Amino acid sequence: MSHFLETAEAIAREAGALIANYHARGIGFELKGDYDLVTEADRNSEKLIVERLREHFPAHSVVAEEGGGKDRSSEYCWYVDPLDGTTNFAHGFPMFNVTLALEHKGELIAGVVYHPVHDEMFAAEKGAGAELNGQKIQVSKAARIDDALVATGFPSRKRHENVNVYFYYELAMMSHGVRRAGAAALDLAYVACGRLDAFWEFGLNPWDMAAGVLLIREAGGQVSGMHGEPFRLRGPHMLADNGLLHQSMLATFEDVFSERYKYPMPDMRR
Ligand code: IPD
Ligand code: CA
Ligand code: CA
Repeated sequence: MSHFLETAEAIAREAGALIANYHARGIGFELKGDYDLVTEADRNSEKLIVERLREHFPAHSVVAEEGGGKDRSSEYCWYVDPLDGTTNFAHGFPMFNVTLALEHKGELIAGVVYHPVHDEMFAAEKGAGAELNGQKIQVSKAARIDDALVATGFPSRKRHENVNVYFYYELAMMSHGVRRAGAAALDLAYVACGRLDAFWEFGLNPWDMAAGVLLIREAGGQVSGMHGEPFRLRGPHMLADNGLLHQSMLATFEDVFSERYKYPMPDMRR
């Protein structure tokens, strides 16, 4: 394991313990936008992570969600989400994580997603595979949407402009189900280890996706934009799956984009 990954794991564990402690005590929240929550745990976790990264890698750039680093001058750049799943966290719903990933000259090379409540460390390194608590992981083998468990998310920002409810509806009709657990990095980690077969979302940020994308690639899966174009970290949209489902997911999306695929509205009075 590289020094980068080892350090990222240690930092994620430390920050995970910090937010788990807040979780155990219960915590209030503030709004940073309409429906967009932030807590003391987000800020203190970010402070800790940015401090540690600066100690270990003083020359590296850091881009962190709560503004803890903005500099992009180094060819090494860390993307940090100090608490992914803040809405869950603020309600005591135990699906949240700490995630950080390192990009070198535009390529993701190391990434971790740590779920403190389950003590699950998902870690990946470019070319070296993906692991969950030290054991190699792989994406699932589901080859048809009607055999798949899929997931999506709905960002808090600009929720009235989000078209995702139409995609949610179509996939809910076709698959074993659509999960909406509220922590994008964990959804991606779950695709990497085969608990989910596919995930998509409109409007994510680089720190939500970076580690998860590397995990999925290293576990044998595929990521792209919503029309099959190459994945971009500043997307902001993404489709991620086990690779076997990619073409049928894209075809379904094209149908929804073109409004060809419509189910009749059920009669709710019955
Ligand atoms: C959010 C979560 C959520 C996703 C949103 C993200 P945050 O991250 O990952 O599942 O739907 O798009 O912004 O704000 O809790 O770090
Ligand atoms: Ca996030
Ligand atoms: Ca966050």
